[in-house]
Amino acid sequence: MENLGVTADFWSGKRVFLTGHTGFKGSWLAVWLHKLGADVTGFSLEPNTQPNHFEALKLDSAITSILGDIRDLEHLRSSMVAANPDIVLHLAAQPLVRESFDNPIDTYATNVMGTANVLESVRDCPSVKSVVMITTDKVYENKEWEWGYREDDRLGGFDPYSNSKACSELVTASYTQSFFNSDDYGTHGVAIATARAGNVFGGGDWAKDRLIPDLVRAHAEKVAPVIRYPGAVRPWQHVLEPLSGYLALARALYEHGPRFNGAYNFGPRDTDAQTVKTICEIVTGILGDAQKWVLDDAVNPHEAGHLKLDISKAKARLGWEPKTNLDQGLTLAGEWYKNFAAGTDAMELTLRDIAAFEVLS
Ligand SMILES: NC(=O)c1ccc[n+]([C@@H]2O[C@H](COP(=O)([O-])OP(=O)(O)OC[C@H]3O[C@@H](n4cnc5c(N)ncnc54)[C@H](O)[C@@H]3O)[C@@H](O)[C@H]2O)c1
Repeated sequence: MENLGVTADFWSGKRVFLTGHTGFKGSWLAVWLHKLGADVTGFSLEPNTQPNHFEALKLDSAITSILGDIRDLEHLRSSMVAANPDIVLHLAAQPLVRESFDNPIDTYATNVMGTANVLESVRDCPSVKSVVMITTDKVYENKEWEWGYREDDRLGGFDPYSNSKACSELVTASYTQSFFNSDDYGTHGVAIATARAGNVFGGGDWAKDRLIPDLVRAHAEKVAPVIRYPGAVRPWQHVLEPLSGYLALARALYEHGPRFNGAYNFGPRDTDAQTVKTICEIVTGILGDAQKWVLDDAVNPHEAGHLKLDISKAKARLGWEPKTNLDQGLTLAGEWYKNFAAGTDAMELTLRDIAAFEVLS
């Protein structure tokens, strides 16, 4: 199997166009790529939480940061052409289930047409060799199975967020077949894959309606956290886990072309798919909370009860597998938030976690 590790010998000097760099996962990825010596151009809306990881890191002084909307094809295309990237990583999205019930049209516009706009822009960028489109574990038609979904299971998505991401998978498949077909690779030179990760946590996420940010906010306000779906099982993972998968995949596409095209799951070890209640208890313990969580008895929108990912394909084809277990990941995250609240610099904390992750085997 090829060496697809996250190493500077591959990433140093690579020009990377990264959408969603002002968000939680995108900001971690931008720091990691910058540390590895890549030349990163980010394209996203302004951060939409206060505080946020992007500003806390002062990322706009480390990478080229463009504030723009992926629904604006001309701005996106001219920005990508100017960046002349080798690799495109598309993370920008409206990523929240509850928000998608309130604003379905905006969610579809960003997640579906935004995806088409990214791929349309790639058509005008002859420098691009490798494209990774980030979707989610929620793209599958949920059958409430106890076992993990595989990449060729049927797509679906109950809520507008999940469904818009399933639609974006179809957009990518169509663009790949129509404009970047592997039979014509010698002409266009572009390889494309999609990446589906689980429920991600780590320092620097302050999104609303996400479990760990909600627990951190409750801790800061010294109130009992309110939990919506205590029995729901999700594939929890530290943010660096799927990011290492995206980077391995981008490298595989760059170095080996369309034989790595397709969809890949990047989930945790099977035993780390745990209930919301379990996560809540571990995190409140790490934060040192005396408060017990309380159940939200409001009527909440539908969410799946059971969701796991089968990661055999990423293991077999990319040699990728999770490096941390749930306790290690949650400890990294909990310590990040505690140290940040105590005044430690965000960049120092983020680089410390990346360094700790890199030495794990
Ligand atoms: N966080 C998770 O648990 C999780 C799990 C699975 C998949 N994902 C996927 O990972 C990606 C990143 O998620 P995140 O958690 O970092 O979300 P986030 O909300 O923190 O970041 C979203 C990013 O997208 C940008 N964005 C949103 N709409 C845009 C638009 N119209 N034009 C340009 N930029 C726009 C935002 O500015 C931000 O930079 C998303 O594609 C999401 O669906 C996240």
